[in-house]
Amino acid sequence: MAGGGWYKINSALHSVLYAVLNSALRALFGHLPSTRPSLVLLLSPKPAFLSSVKALLLTEYKKMSYVDVADPVCGPDDVLIQVRACGICGSDIHGYDGSTGRRIPPLVMGHEAAGVITGVGAKVKGFAPGDRVTFDSTVFCGDCVHCQRGDVNLCDNRQVLGVSCGDYRRHGAFAEFVTVPARILHKLPAELGFAEAAMIEAVSVGVHAVRLTPVAPGDTAIVVGTGMIGLLTLQAAKIAGFAQVIAVDTEDSRLAVAKELGATHSFNPKTGGDLTEFVKSLTKGQGADAAFECVGLNATVLSAIHAVRKGGTVTLVGNLTPKTELPLQVVVTRQLRLQGSCASAGEIPRCIELLATKQIKVDKIISAVAPLAQGADWFAKLYAGAPGVMKVILAPQV
Ligand SMILES: NC(=O)c1ccc[n+]([C@@H]2O[C@H](COP(=O)([O-])OP(=O)(O)OC[C@H]3O[C@@H](n4cnc5c(N)ncnc54)[C@H](O)[C@@H]3O)[C@@H](O)[C@H]2O)c1
Ligand SMILES: [Zn+2]
Ligand SMILES: [Zn+2]
Repeated sequence: MAGGGWYKINSALHSVLYAVLNSALRALFGHLPSTRPSLVLLLSPKPAFLSSVKALLLTEYKKMSYVDVADPVCGPDDVLIQVRACGICGSDIHGYDGSTGRRIPPLVMGHEAAGVITGVGAKVKGFAPGDRVTFDSTVFCGDCVHCQRGDVNLCDNRQVLGVSCGDYRRHGAFAEFVTVPARILHKLPAELGFAEAAMIEAVSVGVHAVRLTPVAPGDTAIVVGTGMIGLLTLQAAKIAGFAQVIAVDTEDSRLAVAKELGATHSFNPKTGGDLTEFVKSLTKGQGADAAFECVGLNATVLSAIHAVRKGGTVTLVGNLTPKTELPLQVVVTRQLRLQGSCASAGEIPRCIELLATKQIKVDKIISAVAPLAQGADWFAKLYAGAPGVMKVILAPQV
């Protein structure tokens, strides 16, 4: 699937172009690389090249349509996946109006998904049709210096599924089927449902942030911002051994969920007074050993920096605003460590285990599981700022 005009093609033109593409693929591979269209269409009166799938397409900024698109082409290193659940990410909502420049239409978004393999490319080993899987949102190359070091999130050739940003367009999983390279796949245990599995990518953000942050027995962490990412980070922080975890949010409802999910204390800066003093009162006057900043605004970054003890770590996860103030002397003279954290690098198997064993809980974070066909309405609602709604998961089969 190349870019733009593909999707606007009506059925007649579509079939002609797709026939040309199929001939090219036959010439290159000697067979149709994707097993699903050929298998399905052997049983159907239509020839394989007329195959199409349903997808939720961003046709122009703030406009989504549930339409037929060309069947995704499965290359030799790819697998074809029948999508069973795909989460709407905050970055999808921010990209929906064009403000981030990373969702240039036409685009099928969606990078937080799980499903069942229905076809494998000729070179794929270790996966077979019928396997239940999830995948990384990052398509890493595996070859660059960062990939070789295991920092696949920092890959020089990184692409993100469901993103188009000028440099590339990579259609995502708000569709009945998606193809992804086998190297980003992970098998799911039978006990993990598809909607929960679609949360793995978000869980991995929290688990990665915690892995980058030093912790010793008895330590105290604060989590600034207990939205979806903060709630997952705080659960990961407790598992990693932080004895006290202080949740900070301006919404009491979010703080209530944080307490249910294991926060030992909660603090609302709108009504609670001074956060630094509150944290000191719980840490023998020292401050927290670590702060996880999960909002990304000037005020919240500053409050995280001021709440940690001398020698503490501020792990920066939120990035709503591109720039914030740096209180240089506080950071230098208190010898703080400011640690950025981006996506995840190798934590997905651990996240699958944490979810399957319910050590990390996502039921209170999933607000709705809705049919993919209703995706446009959900995008509009979330863009308008639906109060109290956290993660919405779209499912083609619902
Ligand atoms: N680094 C990464 O890999 C990564 C991955 C995903 C998301 N993010 C970022 O993490 C951040 C959080 O994402 P999310 O999906 O949890 O968003 P969210 O909207 O669900 O949560 C944000 C929370 O911050 C709270 N908040 C807002 N202003 C506040 C303030 N002044 N003080 C305290 N709390 C405040 C909100 O009430 C809300 O609960 C975003 O900036 C997002 O871009 C980073
Ligand atoms: Zn995401
Ligand atoms: Zn790489």
